[in-house]
Amino acid sequence: MILVTGGAGYIGAHAVLALLQNGHEVLVLDNLCNSSSASLERVTRLAGRRPQFVMGDVRSRPLLDKLFAAYPIDAVMHFAGLKAVGESVREPLRYFETNVSGSVTLCQAMAHAEVFTLVFSSSATVYGESETMPISESAALGLPTNPYGHSKLMAEHVMRSVAHSDPRWAIGLLRYFNPIGAHPSGLLGEAPKNIPNNLLPYLLQVALKQLPALRIYGDDYPTPDGTGIRDYLHVVDLAEGHLMALNRLRKQPGISTWNLGTGRGYSVLEVLKAFEKVVGKTMPVCVEPRRSGDIAQCWSDPSKAREELGWESKRDLNCMLEDAWRWQCLNPNGYGADAMAV
Ligand code: NAD
Ligand code: WQD
Repeated sequence: MILVTGGAGYIGAHAVLALLQNGHEVLVLDNLCNSSSASLERVTRLAGRRPQFVMGDVRSRPLLDKLFAAYPIDAVMHFAGLKAVGESVREPLRYFETNVSGSVTLCQAMAHAEVFTLVFSSSATVYGESETMPISESAALGLPTNPYGHSKLMAEHVMRSVAHSDPRWAIGLLRYFNPIGAHPSGLLGEAPKNIPNNLLPYLLQVALKQLPALRIYGDDYPTPDGTGIRDYLHVVDLAEGHLMALNRLRKQPGISTWNLGTGRGYSVLEVLKAFEKVVGKTMPVCVEPRRSGDIAQCWSDPSKAREELGWESKRDLNCMLEDAWRWQCLNPNGYGADAMAV
């Protein structure tokens, strides 16, 4: 059985579905601070099978000990964490407590239960502002520009030390680039509880007139059209990457790092243009100054994941945008009251 922390969230729910569809038994631990158990109802509908669910906190050692004693858990996927960059600047301690201390507590409970296989949600943010593109795993770890980024880097350091302390550990640090998109059924997707920070969720709400206009944060970057470039990745591809990492870790103990990205960057204006084509109308936009802490460009070299995991992204930008738009139209308020009936 796989314990999936944060399994009710955006990426976690897609991973739980992929695990169930591949025959795994799944136990989700989530405190629902940024999600709803409705996502797991949708997962159940899609998989034809229900994951076990415990509402609780990954920082609680007694709870974790109980779960490891009660269920035949043999590996963990650790998604639980806080991810809003701006909020992390205002509330750094909450971010370090959840993302770093939560990871420490989880590793302690795993060691106690002698469960040593762990897949961790890291982020390309650990590279900071990389000098060369594309970014491979051997690139220097940068200086993250905010407490969220630091918390991910610190969690990586914790796991690296833990893996070096005992050869039984098999830990995969998955450095995601920019996950977007939704399940093609329109049943699972990203459901921000507040005003979105990220480009695509924001754009989706502008398209439904839930927000007035997209603010483009800077058109004076040293990029071909002046707007920031990122490596957008379909969340279903990302979920599949987790399964492949898990398979590899079963055969290869130690600590491994894999970039999960497409290897291709798109600027804000390129995403906007592609999105307008999908939606069939132009979006209201305004150009604003650069957002503090943003970098000009960031895209992956995903060849290590291809060679070692046999993983590569299959879904292109158009597919990401179409799936995200379907999700938004069917669930204008996320998993809330007037979401499509399930
Ligand atoms: P999300 O907020 O949708 O999912 C995180 C889940 O963790 C939520 O369901 C939340 O309720 C749960 N959670 C938070 N604190 C918890 C706690 N103390 N105990 C138990 N559950 C808790 O976010 P997501 O986009 O699905 O991200 C999942 C992971 O991937 C996070 O660790 C995030 O930092 C990482 N990540 C996300 C992105 C991205 O752009 N979405 C990029 C790189 C890395
Ligand atoms: C993408 C591009 C913005 C919003 C963040 C975190 C990172 C990771 C993913 C978890 C940039 C521009 C955005 C808007 C805009 N999270 N933009 N108007 O900043 O690459 O990454 O989320 O690990 O750690 O920092 O993603 O989607 O916010 O921005 O112009 O309303 O879109 O400036 O160029 P980012 P994003």
